[in-house]
Amino acid sequence: VIKKNLLVANWKMNLGLGQSRELTLGLVELAGGLKNTEIWVAPSATSIAAVCTAAKGSAIKCGAQNVHPAKSGAFTGEISIPMLEELGATFGIVGHSERRHQFGESNQLVANRAIGTLKSGFFTILCIGEKLDERESGATNSVLKEQLDPVLSDLSKEMHERLVIAYEPVWAIGTGKVATPTEVSDTHAFISSYYREKSKFECCPILYGGSVTPDNYASIISIDAVSGALVGGASLTLASMKALAEISDR
Ligand code: PGA
Repeated sequence: VIKKNLLVANWKMNLGLGQSRELTLGLVELAGGLKNTEIWVAPSATSIAAVCTAAKGSAIKCGAQNVHPAKSGAFTGEISIPMLEELGATFGIVGHSERRHQFGESNQLVANRAIGTLKSGFFTILCIGEKLDERESGATNSVLKEQLDPVLSDLSKEMHERLVIAYEPVWAIGTGKVATPTEVSDTHAFISSYYREKSKFECCPILYGGSVTPDNYASIISIDAVSGALVGGASLTLASMKALAEISDR
């Protein structure tokens, strides 16, 4: 069960091996001084082993940016949980909007990834979020329901305890356009109540993601229903991770 604020670094297709290792060493030192915040890092697949090694024995969790639910098989380009476990990874991100919208991953495929990852004992960050036209036409909640339904309809207690939801409005990712505190608060409240209704459990932690920076994070993390952030661009330097961690840990 996750109790602290989460600060999840999604490095996407950035940072090579040496840079990943160096930034992780800085984050290990940073994490050692935090009381109320956990740092999780999702490097590119080629750096997972190095990041796990650099983070070994620290409070930092290392994970993958995407995960396949099968143990092995003919799935070119995919990575399984047993492979990740061997490296020391303990969580996976699934359903990132870049996976959904640039690589055509459907709600059902994402749900299969999520369920397989949860069943294997990994922590799982399920990303959900609406596109701009969907928000503007008032379809946000129904889009989120469709993304949540195939995961929540079959959730055991053990799976529930390892699940984290990241609410990332697609129009806010990498655009510098952050959702307003009211939008975040209302949407998190909706996700939370829908989760309870569908799964019969109190909602898991819900992170916000989309153009989070040290300049806007204080107003986001101070919202009750926000348990942390999934951070892309601002997770790539130690300076901005330090600033975000400081805000989160206040
Ligand atoms: P961003 O990315 O912080 O660069 O907007 C967030 C994400 O995609 O998780």
